[in-house]
Amino acid sequence: MTEEIAIIGFGNIAKAIVTPLLDKKLIQPDKVHCVVNSEKSLENIKKNYKHNIEVYKSGSIDSKKIWDCQFKLLSVKPQHLQNIIEGDNIKNKDNLLVSILAGVSINKLTQKFPNHKCVRVVTNIPITVGKGLTGIAWGEKISKDQEKFTKNLFESTSKIYDFTEDYLDIFLALTSSGPAIIALIIESLSDGGLSGGLPKILSEELVMEMILGTISLIKEKKLTTSELKNLVTSPGGTTISALRVLEKKSVRSALIESIVSARNRSKEFN
Ligand SMILES: NC(=O)c1ccc[n+]([C@@H]2O[C@H](COP(=O)([O-])OP(=O)(O)OC[C@H]3O[C@@H](n4cnc5c(N)ncnc54)[C@H](OP(=O)(O)O)[C@@H]3O)[C@@H](O)[C@H]2O)c1
Repeated sequence: MTEEIAIIGFGNIAKAIVTPLLDKKLIQPDKVHCVVNSEKSLENIKKNYKHNIEVYKSGSIDSKKIWDCQFKLLSVKPQHLQNIIEGDNIKNKDNLLVSILAGVSINKLTQKFPNHKCVRVVTNIPITVGKGLTGIAWGEKISKDQEKFTKNLFESTSKIYDFTEDYLDIFLALTSSGPAIIALIIESLSDGGLSGGLPKILSEELVMEMILGTISLIKEKKLTTSELKNLVTSPGGTTISALRVLEKKSVRSALIESIVSARNRSKEFN
């Protein structure tokens, strides 16, 4: 990628997207210009970030430079979007803005950034280890170069799925909120091991290996989840006893509702 890129908001997710590109030298540090809101983040990035990128504080004169970049990644929290005001002296009228904001529609982005073609992306934190999932909804009149640039941002660290915009909220709920739900499940099962007398660290390791092994088995043997469940559930045995408790406590329903709730919350951000 030879283009200059401006990053508005350089927090957890922006770092997870951009750091692997810098690590693999797919983009050069001097081509990356980012803006953050606080003095603390500014100093932190300058002192501790491993790549020597350009970083500015929002509202500073230097930060206005970012509006000259043709390619932008918007990665502030949705509730801070109101504070981002498009530069008033943009020379090029065919800029690209890639937004990773939960729930904020292409229509809203296009109204807020009239000198930009807008693309809405949902990605997830496993991009940090090259195992991410990225959903993309394209706005109108995106050029081939702009499409290529957007895909280049994500394809080295994630599987990419093209969607119409209406599916992005549920994609976000499953894939972007999902890691926190899985972390909670790992934590809870480990606490079960702890309750049975296993040390915490061993218990957590066993749970994670068990989950990885289960996923490999399902994938490699092409099993359905019901087939796997039947495989390990014998009449009157331990597993059916465990599953009975989960059904009694409505865990299945709680998980379904958690995803629907995340989807609804994402819609509220628009
Ligand atoms: N976390 C996830 O797993 C995840 C996954 C997919 C998508 N997302 C989306 O990614 C976005 C960012 O999430 P995050 O977890 O990376 O948040 P974050 O770590 O809080 O980062 C937000 C960044 O925005 C900066 N910022 C705030 N106001 C600004 C302003 N007026 N001008 C310029 N920069 C400003 C913050 O600077 P300061 O640090 O100085 O305040 C910070 O660098 C959200 O919209 C979220 O919906 C998150």
